[in-house]
Amino acid sequence: MELIQAVRGMNDILPGAVEAWQRLEDVIREVMAEYAYQEIRIPILERTTLFARSIGEQTDIVEKEMYTFDDRNGDSLTLRPEGTVGCVRAGVQHGLFHNRQVRLWYLGPMFRHERPQKGRYRQFHQFGAEAIGWDGPDVDAELIFTAGRVFHVLNIEGVELEINSLGSPDARAKYHTYLVDYFESRRDELDADSLKRLQRNPLRILDSKNPEMQSVIEQAPVLIDHLDDESLRHFEGLCHCLDDAGVPYRINHRLVRGLDYYTRTVFEWVSGALGAQSAVCAGGRYDRLVEQLGGRPTPAAGYALGLERLVELMRLSAGDHRSVPDAYFVTVGEAAELRAVQLAESLRDQGFRIQSNCGGGSLKSQMKRGDQSGAGFAILLGEREMQQGVVSIKPLRSDAQQELVAFDQIATALGTRVSQCGEGRVRSTKHPVRE
Ligand code: HAM
Repeated sequence: MELIQAVRGMNDILPGAVEAWQRLEDVIREVMAEYAYQEIRIPILERTTLFARSIGEQTDIVEKEMYTFDDRNGDSLTLRPEGTVGCVRAGVQHGLFHNRQVRLWYLGPMFRHERPQKGRYRQFHQFGAEAIGWDGPDVDAELIFTAGRVFHVLNIEGVELEINSLGSPDARAKYHTYLVDYFESRRDELDADSLKRLQRNPLRILDSKNPEMQSVIEQAPVLIDHLDDESLRHFEGLCHCLDDAGVPYRINHRLVRGLDYYTRTVFEWVSGALGAQSAVCAGGRYDRLVEQLGGRPTPAAGYALGLERLVELMRLSAGDHRSVPDAYFVTVGEAAELRAVQLAESLRDQGFRIQSNCGGGSLKSQMKRGDQSGAGFAILLGEREMQQGVVSIKPLRSDAQQELVAFDQIATALGTRVSQCGEGRVRSTKHPVRE
């Protein structure tokens, strides 16, 4: 029978790989709490017009990449290609932005029918943060800090911040005209993609990765020279905030972003370690979107971080993000098996991760499974130990001596031993015995 495989570009995340994701999700939750952002959960399906109206009819996402279908009522629905628009839709619908400023975050799968390659998938995951209601550059900086802190906590180095300003829509419209004039004057040098973009979205030509296009792009007029005064002040304000906080950045005049809703600040965190898909995090200001989706005029900014790319950076940073049990419980005999259930439960109550053997087997085969589990210790309970009211704690990752410990002393003994050798492994954030 032919095996049914997963849809191309949509990945299973298997045990062994999931632990890095869990670690990442824990860190995101912690960092978001530290900055007082609140989680929001929004549907994966939305009405197609929502995305078309806000991301932009002429963008790659809306033109080519959305998973769109009619449901049984004939309504056109789309699997969300990103989270910002749904967040704003939900906020407007539920009056979250009425005379209030809100900081939100979300995490979940997004869908884009792109050509799959390393770091680019059709189902991928984003963590996003959105600060709605603030006008100043300080909140742009805060958003940047939150992403920087996620990298820092995960020990990820070499992620570089690039910033730019797209100005007000009026300034951008003027710049648009200069840009079209310039590219028209060098029409012969444009590749097929750029010729198409010249008609529909000339700003996106600046985004071209084609090496042959780079000299034309480099000589193009830059937006920052055509910014309105307010956007320029805002941009300088952001630079000051970043300078004051000692956050290094590079001003990239070619950074334009692929979604139409941006105004003023845009930024990306990029890593050379990721290959072609180098942006691990991207965002900016979208001061018109709330109004565009039926709310009152409300300034806003945010970003989204690509979790597949971040997990890859975690892997490259060589941290061991596997989650392994502290101890593997091995038993011999029926009475020991029953007693072990109680002892293991009590150890879990005290914050330890205990993997029970379950399913019997010889001592040798149980020890082998214990070794494969990655646990630091085996806790052995046989007939002799049962008679004495003790267990034997055997180190599995060192030559240290096996030790007999009374039932009521197991937590203390295991706690001491685990804390002596537990570095580098992922531990639960709360561990009453060890902390
Ligand atoms: P975006 O640049 O389209 O922005 O995506 C943000 C991040 O999601 C990218 O930098 C990348 O890490 C990841 N990403 C995007 N597409 C894929 C893909 N096909 N496979 C794997 N990872 C991908 C947005 O989505 C905006 N909503 C960001 C934002 C939030 N702006 C304001 N608030």
